[in-house]
Amino acid sequence: MTDESNLPASDHNDISLNDSPNPAFDSVLRGFLSRRGLLKGGAGTAATLIMGGGMIGCSNDDDSVPAPTPTPLGPVPTLPTTLQLNFDPVAKSLADVLTVPIGYTAQVLYALGDPLSVSLPDYANNGSEPGTSFALRAGDHHDGMQFFGMTNGGLYSPTISTRGLICINHENITQNCLHGAGPTVVAGVRTVADEVVKEINAHGVAIYEVTRADTGVVSVVRASTYNRRITPNTPMAITGPAAGSSYLRTLNSPNGLTSRGTINNCGSGYTPWGTFVTSEENWAGYFKRSAGDDVTRGGDNAKSVKSLKRYGITQGAGGSYAWSTAVASDPTDRTFSRWNSTQSGISTDGSDDFRNEPNSFGYVVEINPFDPVSIPKKRTALGRIAHEATTYRAAVEGRPVVFYMGDDSRGEYFYKYVSSALWVDADAFGGSAVGDKYLNAGTLYAAKFNADGSGEWLPLTLSNPAIAGYAGYAFSDPADICVNTRLAGDAVGATKMDRPEWADVNPKNGDVYLTLTNNNAALRPVAGTDGSNPRAYGSGGNANGHIIRLRETGGDAAATTFRWDIYLFGSPATADATNINVSGLTHANDFSSPDGLWFDPRGVCWIQTDDGAYTGTTNCMMLAAIPGNVGDGGARQITNTIGAATKTVTTYVAAASTEANLRRFLVGPKGCEITGITITPDMRTLFVNIQHPGEGTTVANMIAGNPESTWPAGTAGSRPRSATVVIRKDDGGTVGSRLV
Ligand code: FEO
Ligand code: CA
Ligand code: CA
Ligand code: CA
Repeated sequence: MTDESNLPASDHNDISLNDSPNPAFDSVLRGFLSRRGLLKGGAGTAATLIMGGGMIGCSNDDDSVPAPTPTPLGPVPTLPTTLQLNFDPVAKSLADVLTVPIGYTAQVLYALGDPLSVSLPDYANNGSEPGTSFALRAGDHHDGMQFFGMTNGGLYSPTISTRGLICINHENITQNCLHGAGPTVVAGVRTVADEVVKEINAHGVAIYEVTRADTGVVSVVRASTYNRRITPNTPMAITGPAAGSSYLRTLNSPNGLTSRGTINNCGSGYTPWGTFVTSEENWAGYFKRSAGDDVTRGGDNAKSVKSLKRYGITQGAGGSYAWSTAVASDPTDRTFSRWNSTQSGISTDGSDDFRNEPNSFGYVVEINPFDPVSIPKKRTALGRIAHEATTYRAAVEGRPVVFYMGDDSRGEYFYKYVSSALWVDADAFGGSAVGDKYLNAGTLYAAKFNADGSGEWLPLTLSNPAIAGYAGYAFSDPADICVNTRLAGDAVGATKMDRPEWADVNPKNGDVYLTLTNNNAALRPVAGTDGSNPRAYGSGGNANGHIIRLRETGGDAAATTFRWDIYLFGSPATADATNINVSGLTHANDFSSPDGLWFDPRGVCWIQTDDGAYTGTTNCMMLAAIPGNVGDGGARQITNTIGAATKTVTTYVAAASTEANLRRFLVGPKGCEITGITITPDMRTLFVNIQHPGEGTTVANMIAGNPESTWPAGTAGSRPRSATVVIRKDDGGTVGSRLV
């Protein structure tokens, strides 16, 4: 298994789309030498960076770009040691089973194809269901998810654990296992339209109701009126600065105010007002664009060529699964044709074809699970990238609401969004109407990690001279920045990272964590290592990934400066302890390619892997950790040597973890990724997703009854299915950790 093989044919994590000259690190210390002294252990006076008129956004540009201020950082506080991991570590494993700690039980709750209606039969798991049925069946490739406790009156409750709604992403498909005998393709054409309907419907998001019995067993309520599938065909509203702009006009939406559906939904998050936010990741790979389209788009559309290339939709791209080649029986049905982004019309604004259809994806989408007929809203103010998780920092009355977001591709950036509106506690649980207030106007920033352990949030606004004067692309308006966010990141000189995946915030201290899952030899050569991406080793690149974290200056989420250190480096336990296994991992906690990362409300950090580098030793896994604070370690030098190339880098690392505060909790079956996690408010029921077990299964092996994995059924020849599992402690206690 590799972490890429589940992705569409055009894998946008695996290629560099970022040809900007941005340095991967800034060798200029920018006058922060005094801060560097603090990072080496000195203490300073805590200071809060107050942003005056600098709260500018895509939508309300002005001239007051807040300059990075080298504010002294405060002393590192000591955390109360109230948490203790309450399980023995699980051993690494290559077995085709799900392993949880002794004293715990895992229950399969919701697997590919499960009906979300009492009107549908159970899933046969042989490809026999019609494609339309997946509009009310569980989709494939379970990913980010969130449990929302629900009152008997159908309202969100953050304290109810026995009844709730789960919102879950269905990122992609294991195409080989979805049909009777694999996909039907004749001379490159999808000749069986229903297969394509099924593949499309198996993407998107699901919302389903669950109840928990006194035994701890959780059940899906198939008859619930809250159950809903949101697919790539579901009507959506475009909101924020790009709504109604020329970038969003298509044959389906001539006014640019609506779009169809969501796709490749990867990480997730939720809002302080009780809604789900889902992230569109590798959407670009689904689009066909014919050879010659660059020329066709000349003249007024020349900017769109630059944009398409930056997002990886090069001319000649066939589009994953070749959906656009299917033919609908009704010629006015655009279900398939919309996946061809080649310019074919004669309009100047794109309203007569689907040349702009790719601009309708790549956003954070907000969904109100408590209103089953609500129209999901694409929040363009949060930018258009290959979004991973969208996670908010605890809202503080009178301060902006802040979300952190990674862009998962090699050499891409880390972003945050700071709302223009200031948080009012009375807005809690207000649903997506509140979302309009906080998510449609604000400032997007991209992160710059300096070599001295400091960092800057660079505003992506027209008033930023780096954007206004950018030679690589002429930004027209705030909408342009929201649609072409990667180009804006290039313009300001953000730091190219080793594939940003999930981010989350430690609720105990506000530290922001970001997984950097891996990088390859081409894009992280020895000479290209830097303080925040400091390793290149083995056969090249940063094969095992790392987890970086940052603390905002003055503890203010809206600050424009921060300090950073590296919490953990993925590595085999047996690797060189000086330059590769820098975190001193042992057999109880070694891992590779961190991807999912999520803090539960107690402050337990759950780390999930999507690995292709350590899979000769173990299947993908999940670990639990109790981290300390940014700055609790110190400076560290790493020497990278591959062949004749060598470079020594100074970085900043966390205090060493031990088996007491970092342990492996779970190992999945063959070929899976572990991704997506949520917990009930009482901490007694943990939900975890097992994505694409057996994803390496060929059609021939499936037909022969020899799939790579038979999980979860475990019976001979059964096809593997992505699934949500419920994990509980056999004694009814809290999962993973206890208070001491
Ligand atoms: Fe869908 Fe970046 O993982
Ligand atoms: Ca995957
Ligand atoms: Ca991911
Ligand atoms: Ca991944």
